[in-house]
Amino acid sequence: MDRIFSGVQPTGNLHIGNYLGAIKNFVEIQKRKNIIKSYYCVVDLHAITVWQNPKKLKNDTLETAAAFIASGINPTKSIIFNQSRVSSHAELAWILNCICRIGWLNRMTQFKEKAGKNREQVSVGLYAYPVLMASDILSYKSTLVPVGDDQKQHLELARDIANKFNYDYGVNFFPEIKPLIFGGATRVMSLRDGNKKMSKSDDSEYSRINLVDEADIIRKKIRKAKTDSGSIMDLKSLDDKGEFKSEVICNRPEAVNLINIFCATENKTKRDIIEKFMGKNFSNLKESLADSLINKIAPIGKEMKKMMQDSSYLESILKEGAEIADEDSKKNLFEIKNIIGLN
Ligand code: TYM
Repeated sequence: MDRIFSGVQPTGNLHIGNYLGAIKNFVEIQKRKNIIKSYYCVVDLHAITVWQNPKKLKNDTLETAAAFIASGINPTKSIIFNQSRVSSHAELAWILNCICRIGWLNRMTQFKEKAGKNREQVSVGLYAYPVLMASDILSYKSTLVPVGDDQKQHLELARDIANKFNYDYGVNFFPEIKPLIFGGATRVMSLRDGNKKMSKSDDSEYSRINLVDEADIIRKKIRKAKTDSGSIMDLKSLDDKGEFKSEVICNRPEAVNLINIFCATENKTKRDIIEKFMGKNFSNLKESLADSLINKIAPIGKEMKKMMQDSSYLESILKEGAEIADEDSKKNLFEIKNIIGLN
């Protein structure tokens, strides 16, 4: 039996990378039988590791909850809440800060990317970000964590922290954390540069499809997406497992990205898509991909906008979710404090 936890930052511009890499999988997992509880958290405390406009943060928090529900997460089956309402997350994070080693954090590639040359000027919170993630997961003794590929290293760190806690205190309190990274698009790349991850913070609107984009914008962005001068590749580009060969990913990253997006939106294999389009021009693939995205993504955006018109429903979901999460996490925190000798 498993407990599920995952989080999404309320930093605006939710895009198809967030959806295909993570949120769509949250919805899939709901169908599984061996789940005790699922927690889907709007991680507002993670968001403030970089500057956020307070009004926008509040709005983006509601919008992220709207994205969860519009995508198909059922608030009567899963617990939807925002992190800052449940104080155990921050409290356990402090305890885990005392378990985690500085050397482990120094290896985090996402911190290196985000801090860049500005390392001395970024917040301490940005550095300790992965410890708060570990706390999110461990607050509920969660075992399965559905995420996109970019969070893999953070989850390995969370597992190391849990193991060290168990070892240091001679207990078997925290269970093993397993990342759940699946689907056709675990790493969606920018539509402008196939070597860069699709990101909420990219300056170019044309680099991503936002969940709230209207149909005509989706089509325009896909039509403008960067491709190469070749035609669509054939089946020789796939390995025995039906995945793209590494040289194909390296030489044709934009083409690979569009096909991956297509596979994920349509729940099809790469073989299915390639068999249909091989040898054709990108314009054929792009028109069909735009149709598919308009079909699958635009209704989610429409529903999100509708929900945002009356925020009282979203507020009530977040409040009720936080009450359950608070109770569940407090029980664990009490036991953790007992183990440490803090109560
Ligand atoms: P965030 O808000 O950056 O992203 C939310 C989810 O979307 C996935 N994702 C992508 N997947 C595929 N392609 C992309 N281009 C892409 N961009 C983002 C992310 O992998 C993520 O699953 N640290 C997390 C939030 C978090 C969390 C947690 C996750 C906080 N606590 C505990 C799991 C468990 C983050 O920044 O997500």
